Amino acid sequence: MNYKEALSHNIFKTISKSAKALDIDAYVIGGFVRDFLLNRGDAKDIDIVAIGDGIALAKEVAKQLPNTPKVQVFKTYGTAMLRYDDIEIEFVGARKESYTEDSRNPAVENGSLEDDQNRRDFTINALALNLNENNFGDLLDPFNGIDDLENKIIKTPLPPDITYSDDPLRMMRAVRFATQLDFSIEQKSLQAITENNARIKIITNERIVVELHKILESKKPSVGFLLLEQTGLLQYILPELTALKGIDEVEGQKHKDNFYHTLEVVDNIALHTDDLWLRWAALLHDIGKAPTKKFSKKVGWTFHGHEFEGSKMVYHLFKRLKMPLNDKMKFVQKMVFMSSRPIVLAQDLVTDSAVRRLVFDAGEYVDDLMTLCEADITTKNPRKFNKYHNNFKIVRDKIIEVEARDHVRNFQPPISGEEIMKTFNLKPSREIGLIKEQIKEAILEGEIPNEYDAAFKLMIEKGKLLGLEVKS
Ligand code: CTP
Repeated sequence: MNYKEALSHNIFKTISKSAKALDIDAYVIGGFVRDFLLNRGDAKDIDIVAIGDGIALAKEVAKQLPNTPKVQVFKTYGTAMLRYDDIEIEFVGARKESYTEDSRNPAVENGSLEDDQNRRDFTINALALNLNENNFGDLLDPFNGIDDLENKIIKTPLPPDITYSDDPLRMMRAVRFATQLDFSIEQKSLQAITENNARIKIITNERIVVELHKILESKKPSVGFLLLEQTGLLQYILPELTALKGIDEVEGQKHKDNFYHTLEVVDNIALHTDDLWLRWAALLHDIGKAPTKKFSKKVGWTFHGHEFEGSKMVYHLFKRLKMPLNDKMKFVQKMVFMSSRPIVLAQDLVTDSAVRRLVFDAGEYVDDLMTLCEADITTKNPRKFNKYHNNFKIVRDKIIEVEARDHVRNFQPPISGEEIMKTFNLKPSREIGLIKEQIKEAILEGEIPNEYDAAFKLMIEKGKLLGLEVKS
């Protein structure tokens, strides 16, 4: 079969000419070919295999291109990379690889295209298009990758045990591709992953996180988390989630399975936001439930303080996975910490002051918090489902109303500490904090509007009650 139309970008002609000049064969392989055949839009990464010196080919290509882009050479891997027209092109000499037990860094020998295709992760990633002048665009598909694309299945070119134990990251990649592409993983692959799952420990956290992010960014992330759980990988990567599995029953009282609930919440939120960190918040919103779970005869199952516990666990989880401990982490912590707040509102009568407090505490993230809490409604009871959603609608409307009137989202006290000191001729003291707190409380309760004059009047009243005198 010929797929010349995949190679319409002028870079491929340039590579073809350069390969001819060096008298070597060159092929485009991997994700670019796969994504073209799947109609996944224009790929920004192109992988080129040279039957010969890949670095020399990269340098020759750079020479042929306008402005001679810089070639970055990675000597240890025998690869080279250049950027052209927004595209990252990676060159490698065809290789035969063998891996050792305790590392993913292979010993490398030169090889044929066939050798190179053999050592790749999946049949759908081993598809290559010929770039040589005479066979430009011819497909080389020794493992029937085309059929596997058609049948939506992830298979390995070699026996799966070899492919996965060679490079255990591929276990994550299999799950990730299955999630992104809505493919299934071949049964014997699933078995090999399950048997090799402990080898995920030799993979760096950074690489694992890249795959987790891609799973979380997929349309239906639960597909990936279920596969991770089913193959036993999840216990090594996110034990906080596997700890949520299971339903306990004491004296006929059960709680829900918080693992499957969590996955429903993640799928729900994925319908409403592409924000990776809000999706992380959904994934982690209940992790505090495992360590706080208790049974009491009077009230049944409780998870008291799971939001606070969960937000502390977020920090440790991010640290363990070597994710940056930055504002994104703090955002996830905040969402987890506040995750039950709107629910309480939605179960009850929605008062102005409760909404004002919610907006005050959530600040600029109040909309994200509402999105999370709406996704958290997984009840199968239609009456409750509708009631909670209706109440959240009321909460959302009230947030807009309260915010337009009271501006508490990024609350600035209408009366400063300095003004209180000046008014009562005070030095820095406890009374100033007390008065400020009372003014804030009165605003949040709706006793006074969030305005200077009303706050000033209240300050005088509260000061008098504390025995303070207004300076004349
Ligand atoms: N590859 C592999 N084993 C890995 C990583 C990559 O065999 N652990 C091979 C596959 O043939 C893959 C190619 O290298 O197609 C390029 O890898 P990469 O750029 O990481 O992935 P893509 O397949 O291009 O997909 P994506 O961009 O979605 O990650």
